[in-house]
Amino acid sequence: MAIDVGAGSVRRVRSIPMRRTVRRLMHDPAGALLEFAREAEGQVVRLNLGPFRPYLVTHPDHVQQVMRLEWTNYQRVGMFWRPLERLFGHGIMSDGEHWRTSRAILQPLFTTRYIATLAEEMAARVAGRIEEWDEHARTGRDIDATTEMSGIITYIVNRVLFGDKLSRQDAERIIPAIDLVSHSLVYRFLMPFMPYFIRIPRDRACLRGIKQIDDVVYPVVREAMAHPDDNLDIVSVLCRFTDENGERLTAKQIRDALVSVYTAASETTAMILTWLWLLLDGHPDIAARLQAEIDEVVGDGPARAEHVPQLAYTRMVLLESLRLYPSGWLVPRHVMEDAEIGGVRIKRGSTVLITPYATQRLEEFWERPDEFDPERFASEKTAGGERRHRYSYFPFGGGPHKCLGEHLFYVEAPLIVASILSRFRLSVRTPGPYTVAWAASLRPKGRIELGVSFARRGRSAVAGHDRSAVAR
Ligand code: HEM
Repeated sequence: MAIDVGAGSVRRVRSIPMRRTVRRLMHDPAGALLEFAREAEGQVVRLNLGPFRPYLVTHPDHVQQVMRLEWTNYQRVGMFWRPLERLFGHGIMSDGEHWRTSRAILQPLFTTRYIATLAEEMAARVAGRIEEWDEHARTGRDIDATTEMSGIITYIVNRVLFGDKLSRQDAERIIPAIDLVSHSLVYRFLMPFMPYFIRIPRDRACLRGIKQIDDVVYPVVREAMAHPDDNLDIVSVLCRFTDENGERLTAKQIRDALVSVYTAASETTAMILTWLWLLLDGHPDIAARLQAEIDEVVGDGPARAEHVPQLAYTRMVLLESLRLYPSGWLVPRHVMEDAEIGGVRIKRGSTVLITPYATQRLEEFWERPDEFDPERFASEKTAGGERRHRYSYFPFGGGPHKCLGEHLFYVEAPLIVASILSRFRLSVRTPGPYTVAWAASLRPKGRIELGVSFARRGRSAVAGHDRSAVAR
């Protein structure tokens, strides 16, 4: 494998044996891209993977050019996005007219003001769901971190975004299916040039996962289309929508929107919360400060909507966790017309890879980039007093495709962390080091087990909150 670093024009600067580089990518995909970016000191890097030669773009100026300034020239089409079409169809996770329509329909459901109206309900949901861990705290039975974090998220998402139109059982059936698809799609990402009539590893598993998702989602869509209501959840809003010609969305369009939002909302948030416990376990001083804030603001809990603005340090911890482990770690774009980035000429039809994982750890923009230090988010400026480059930190992307769920995340995640830590103490049972798996979102390799104990003695005897109000 060769890496070409561009400066003025694309030129070959060094060559690494292909097998070794592929091994690095396979072993630690995000880490390998970071290594290439650091070697190139933020310049555009060309990865030569035989028939597939994408450009790795990590300098914040270049990221801004691709994601915002010239975004129409860098679209979500082409061989990297084709595998995702199997899962998401043509909607909010695509580009062009389909994306524009979906974004216009969904955006009003994700404004700061609208999310604020859901906060109290989210808080009640979180409280109800984590009480189920009492059993683990009593018996000493560990929990599987990613499964439990996904369980909490889908429980919230199902209520606030889907108006409880999926039963809890169905919602939980989707989690392993999304997991299966997320892991299986990776082979298509690694071999984007492979035609679809040739089966590659995990293709069958991927299609099985998508079928499992469709088996749950389509009946919900058909039922909602047959009996429309006035609710403000996504399913109802999509079913009521008519375009300028009075046409309604098809069942497939509604299914695509629901699966896109469901996947975007659950995997990403569940993964960052999983990394969070690993980070806190390795940094007892930060964990203690976080705990002190939660004790002071939330006390015995549960966390409520009014606590969120007071949880300043919790927010800093989340921001820093997202710097080190941005769940949306790989953001590919297809180059529509010949272009130039950082002096490098890029031909139409090429693929550009953006990865917040690498940019957010570049030494040129972050002091001690690999260190977990939430304090850096105490101010918008760097330690040297300069304003941070807007695109040196972009865990939620940027430009017109910026994540719709960012506000939701900053209400939901502090509520979850504060509710858990006001009731329990968690300890990581799986020994490190923790490496990154090859999956559509940044996730730790293997199963992460957490031990659960009550935060306060005698807690098991404390009557729970009124679970009937929130549980199904
Ligand atoms: C830790 C949490 C999250 C992270 C790190 C994250 C990250 C991202 C990133 C990087 C993008 C940009 C993709 C691109 O430019 O191609 C994105 C888009 C998107 N995210 Fe998120 N996301 C998170 C949570 C959520 C949640 C909670 C929701 C919904 C409830 C959501 C819904 C979406 C949607 C619909 C898009 C597509 C927006 C568009 O293209 O117009 N995300 N997200």
